[in-house]
Amino acid sequence: MGEVDPAFIQAIEHRPKPTIIEAQGIPVIDLSSINSPDPNDTAGLVAEIGHACKDWGFFQVINHGVPTDIRREIETAARKFFAQSTEEIWKVRKNEVNPLGYSDSELTKNVRDWKRVFDFAVKEPMVIPVSVEADDKEVKKLMNQWPEYPPELREACQEYAQELEKFSYKLLELISLSLGLAANRLSGFFKDQNSYGRLNHYPPCPVPQLALGVGRHKDGGALTVLSQDDVGGLEVKRKTDGEWIRVKPTPDAFIINVGDIFQVWSNEKYESVEHRVAVNSEKERFSIPFFFNPAHYTIVEPLEELINEQNPAKYRPYNYGKFFANRKRSNFTKLDVENIQI
Ligand code: SIN
Ligand code: FE2
Repeated sequence: MGEVDPAFIQAIEHRPKPTIIEAQGIPVIDLSSINSPDPNDTAGLVAEIGHACKDWGFFQVINHGVPTDIRREIETAARKFFAQSTEEIWKVRKNEVNPLGYSDSELTKNVRDWKRVFDFAVKEPMVIPVSVEADDKEVKKLMNQWPEYPPELREACQEYAQELEKFSYKLLELISLSLGLAANRLSGFFKDQNSYGRLNHYPPCPVPQLALGVGRHKDGGALTVLSQDDVGGLEVKRKTDGEWIRVKPTPDAFIINVGDIFQVWSNEKYESVEHRVAVNSEKERFSIPFFFNPAHYTIVEPLEELINEQNPAKYRPYNYGKFFANRKRSNFTKLDVENIQI
């Protein structure tokens, strides 16, 4: 095992498999008809998205309309940022007061992840509960910690976040329609949104068969929109048989997944699916997830249009900000939304 800290080593049953399964992967959906005036085009797209959310909880999109240059700028700036010395990068390290900024000591279910991250809030200040136990009115207001270098990082992140926010609203509409809801049914929850972006860097790993870039987990928010480079490593747990399937990198595509909030809103029609990241010994990998999350005070519960006597609510209402804080504090060891299952 050489010099690798045992804190990174996964239990045998959670280690990546030596053979990668890429076949019959998550659906790839072409969004070019997104603004088509023909209602048949939109209906077809909505149906495709509905099937993907139900069968996989994940899908890739191409021809999504997010400008390529905005994506290149943040990718290039992220590479420059992570290429600096640790001493330099640590100037924007997360701390006890501020969970925004850089970290190289993230844990998932008590095992260290083989990755380095930089988190930034989309709206400043980002408002979160002071603690899980505190009164609902006791909040912290967080500001981003921008590094000095590269100087263009801040604007690149902000521009990217603006584009991704617009795009996420569009996805939210399509997913709402796929659930038989009005297109704008869920938009109100995002007025004071707690969305954030993350720059991920997965350095080459000397023990890729023992460690993971990110351990298995489900996303706690509403939607995640991920951009990954051409290295690959993201694996999704296939619902039909529990097999881990590698997501094949598709140039300029985004990978979308529905998080715990959609699982509850849809009363489990759509499930938040487990995923993880495998690393390799040769190539570093970069990815940029955008977490589209509602305001911290949002009460999440099954939508009344989607429950009835035959299909009663499967979850109790919960406070999103506190639930999220609790999951973070326990580094995902808590059983996700199953905790509030009725
Ligand atoms: C994540 O799920 O946290 C990261 C996904 C990725 O880097 O592909
Ligand atoms: Fe994730």
